[in-house]
Amino acid sequence: GNITTFREEGLANVSTLLVNEETNTLFVGGREAVFALDLNNISRETARIRCQNYILFLHKINASYLYVCGTNAYHPTCDYMVIHGTNISLQGRAEESRGRCPFEPTQKYASVFVDGEFYSATSNNFLGTEPIILRSMRNPVRTEFKTSWLNEPSFVSMEIVHESESNPEGDDDKIYVFFTETAVEFEFYDKLLVSRIARVCRGDLGGKRVLQRRWTSFLKSRLSCSVPELNFHFNIVQDIFLLRRRRWQDSIFYGIFSQQWGRLDISAVCAYSMKTIQEVFSKGSYKGPVTVEHSPVKWMVYRGEVPVPRPGACIDNSARSMGYNTSTDLPDKVLQFVRDHPLMDDSVNPIGDSPVLLRRGSNYTRIVVDRVTGLDQQTYDVMFLGTDDGYLHKALNCDGEMFIVEELQLFLAPEPVQSLQLSSEKGMLYGGSQSQVVQLPVCQCHRYRYCMDCILARDPYCAWAPAAHGCVSLAEQTAPPISEKPAQTPPVELARKAQHWLQRGRAVEGGVQTHKRVGHESLLGSSL
Ligand SMILES: *[C@@H]1O[C@H](CO)[C@@H](O)[C@H](O)[C@H]1NC(C)=O
Ligand SMILES: *[C@@H]1O[C@H](CO)[C@@H](O)[C@H](O)[C@H]1NC(C)=O
Ligand SMILES: *[C@@H]1O[C@H](CO)[C@@H](O)[C@H](O)[C@H]1NC(C)=O
Ligand SMILES: *[C@@H]1O[C@H](CO)[C@@H](O)[C@H](O)[C@H]1NC(C)=O
Ligand SMILES: *[C@@H]1O[C@H](CO)[C@@H](O)[C@H](O)[C@H]1NC(C)=O
Ligand SMILES: *[C@@H]1O[C@H](CO)[C@@H](O)[C@H](O)[C@H]1NC(C)=O
Ligand SMILES: *[C@@H]1O[C@H](CO)[C@@H](O)[C@H](O)[C@H]1NC(C)=O
Repeated sequence: GNITTFREEGLANVSTLLVNEETNTLFVGGREAVFALDLNNISRETARIRCQNYILFLHKINASYLYVCGTNAYHPTCDYMVIHGTNISLQGRAEESRGRCPFEPTQKYASVFVDGEFYSATSNNFLGTEPIILRSMRNPVRTEFKTSWLNEPSFVSMEIVHESESNPEGDDDKIYVFFTETAVEFEFYDKLLVSRIARVCRGDLGGKRVLQRRWTSFLKSRLSCSVPELNFHFNIVQDIFLLRRRRWQDSIFYGIFSQQWGRLDISAVCAYSMKTIQEVFSKGSYKGPVTVEHSPVKWMVYRGEVPVPRPGACIDNSARSMGYNTSTDLPDKVLQFVRDHPLMDDSVNPIGDSPVLLRRGSNYTRIVVDRVTGLDQQTYDVMFLGTDDGYLHKALNCDGEMFIVEELQLFLAPEPVQSLQLSSEKGMLYGGSQSQVVQLPVCQCHRYRYCMDCILARDPYCAWAPAAHGCVSLAEQTAPPISEKPAQTPPVELARKAQHWLQRGRAVEGGVQTHKRVGHESLLGSSL
């Protein structure tokens, strides 16, 4: 199809992709090298540098600088990379970076770069026994080494949400961290894993006496994704994508999940609203440790007195009105409380209280989501899901039902999709396995040769253009053939009918020129 592949001598252990639309470059980090590829056609390599490293992540600092971190033979190191035109070079200011980058590539990690501050979630030692969430470069602050804070975590993702923007409460920006860890709050004969969402405030400077140079705003909650009726508990979070909207309140976190026990061949996608997340952290109860003689500590809802200002809250107008201008002003008893009660009692539940997609027979590894407006002026969140055997699924919600509208094989050999990036601006996806990188358009409308196929595809990126007698991409075809002819049967109308037929199982097999026909994924339907 329209898949462009980059697969070169020297490209191995690809771990990270960075889309840079300003310089029109896709940066690829792998073993002992960083590659710069043409974003329009990744088979064109524009530059490469060699480094003594497993490069694990690349962050954009500004138009001409990237921040690059790698394992450096068990001596984690970060450096600046300078972009001049098509040329790239390391600045040679490499510094020891324990706590910013893992010691070896198999340790899980996540990080974000925010205006000269680097937030990282990784292991602070070689053995991986000191998990840490750290801010470095400016105002260094970290988590406590306590199992109640982080218990054998497997970090997945980190995102900043600019919640200070037009915030009536004068609240602060937050950094969210997603991971799976060993639960402390459930009693079980075996190690029970649990998915978490944790967050810290950007303005947090640590405490004065208690929690010195430690987060005073570290709170975490269980990230729930389950179908209790079917006894599905998706307790392992695999990846998170933040669908950013202009108003941060409208942004949505999408996550893919799997199970620790039971049906291991089912993947789920759950979506979380900012409102739910905020309510749990800003209004919810805390859990507290209860010591019972001769038995391990139990974590129960804390019903005692909670000190003021609210432990773990950012410095907001209410705190300022009490004279607490920074976290170092906070009273000891508030800091002691948050140190001992980092876990919220309530879980963060998904939108609709259930997964948006369940899929049997595929293990999802990566997710990106694009919001598109179809010809019907409706918005669709189109999900692109990478699998552990090298496939890409394109799924969307049509009238309350989730459909996988396309399934593509990205690599010749069945390798896991380990990185997935979207450029909405270019209408392109970039996917990586350990050994190669591929590029493909978000839609391939020309594949549908007949009007009916075009409409049956239910792809909001595509529309039938009667004048051109072809299935076209809406992005490329904004003005004429379509809008000139309002009298035509609107594709939306046809799409509704088509969907109806499909649901009743009357669609003609072979009528659609897609790569593989996939039935609709009704949540509790027959596919399960
Ligand atoms: C995809 O391939 C088709 C036919 O091979 C070609 O007409 C079209 O321009 C290609 N699209 C892109 C985005 O490369
Ligand atoms: C790096 O790639 C090689 C060959 O593809 C593979 O054998 C090795 O396990 C990879 N290393 C890591 C840390 O993934
Ligand atoms: C990408 O570049 C390669 C090499 O320059 C060329 O052969 C190929 O046709 C290009 N692909 C597209 C889709 O433009
Ligand atoms: C980009 O960031 C680098 C590293 O922090 C800094 O030295 C440089 O001045 C910045 N450039 C611009 C244009 O902001
Ligand atoms: C690329 O940058 C390196 C390091 O700064 C320099 O030595 C080299 O001459 C540059 N190459 C080009 C083509 O500008
Ligand atoms: C907080 O700021 C206010 C107004 O600037 C000031 O009056 C007050 O003393 C400050 N409080 C502390 C504890 O520094
Ligand atoms: C998905 O993962 C399960 C459990 O690890 C494994 O048994 C199964 O073969 C995998 N399925 C695919 C399609 O890779």
